[in-house]
Amino acid sequence: MQAADIGTLEAVALAATRRAAVASYAWVGRNDQKGADAAATAAMRAVLADAPGRGTVVIGEGEKDDAPMLFNGEVVGNGHGPDFDIAVDPLEGTSFCARDLPGALATIAFGAAGTLWSPGPGFYMDKIVVPPRAKDAIDLDDPPERTLAKVAEALGKKVSALRVVIMDKPRHKELIARVLQAGAAVQTPAGGDVGGSLAVLMPTLDIDLLLGVGGTPEGVMTAAAVRALGGGMVGRLAPQRDEEADAIRAAGMSLDRIYDRDELVSGEAFFVATGVNGGPLLGRPRTVGDTTITESLVISRNEIRHITHTTFD
Ligand code: FBP
Repeated sequence: MQAADIGTLEAVALAATRRAAVASYAWVGRNDQKGADAAATAAMRAVLADAPGRGTVVIGEGEKDDAPMLFNGEVVGNGHGPDFDIAVDPLEGTSFCARDLPGALATIAFGAAGTLWSPGPGFYMDKIVVPPRAKDAIDLDDPPERTLAKVAEALGKKVSALRVVIMDKPRHKELIARVLQAGAAVQTPAGGDVGGSLAVLMPTLDIDLLLGVGGTPEGVMTAAAVRALGGGMVGRLAPQRDEEADAIRAAGMSLDRIYDRDELVSGEAFFVATGVNGGPLLGRPRTVGDTTITESLVISRNEIRHITHTTFD
């Protein structure tokens, strides 16, 4: 992507997440995950259809939950402009949205054509995300205690001063226990590992690392944000069911291979999110008279831009 393209595509991405956030906001607290996801996806797809250029959805979200999605391989855009890759989750945290618990986001990442990793039939991956100063301190083959020690040293802290995000899932029971036992503090949201990773990258939020297994689309989007800010990330496919593992092997992919940040996203990329129902990162959309107010983050080229829009277009 050329510099001029990035500005244009960032505007498209912002319009896409804002539309998706406003569309899904109508579903907040209505106990209907699929309805919320469908509204976000339709709104985002409509914006992407007019994007200048030709975008390929390398990794969409929804297949693992049988939810409405922008399909892997779907081509978007009007064809007049650059080629680019997309990783997308129009509604990240569908259950947060359905239950009106804070943290749902409309999310998307763009990369130059051919630069976003495709996990094939892999829905889940193990991840470590750290801020720039600890980027060389992580290895998924390390036990968590060693990861904590290396990250603490890189950040110039004691392990007891580390704050770690790990999603509260049964698969993380032992991991959470070991991190606590090692002396670090643990934040355990019910889900939303994009939000957890963003918290690691936001200097104001006092979170030092994210550990654990989450979705692959979320992983690739996160890697775009991490790369744009010079942070560190490693990932490895971590299938949660036998059929998923079989499908990965059948696709000729390894279950052992560790991907570093620059393999997950191998060229310039940016990430955009808009708040759906409020939370530590972004407020929810609000309508005042005929004005719609949205809060978004653009993470691109070593910058985090927090944008409050007070008009729609
Ligand atoms: P959704 O967008 O599907 O609601 O994903 C929410 C999420 O918590 C992600 O942040 C996370 O990566 C993934 O689900 C984990 O999946 P699971 O809930 O199946 O363990």
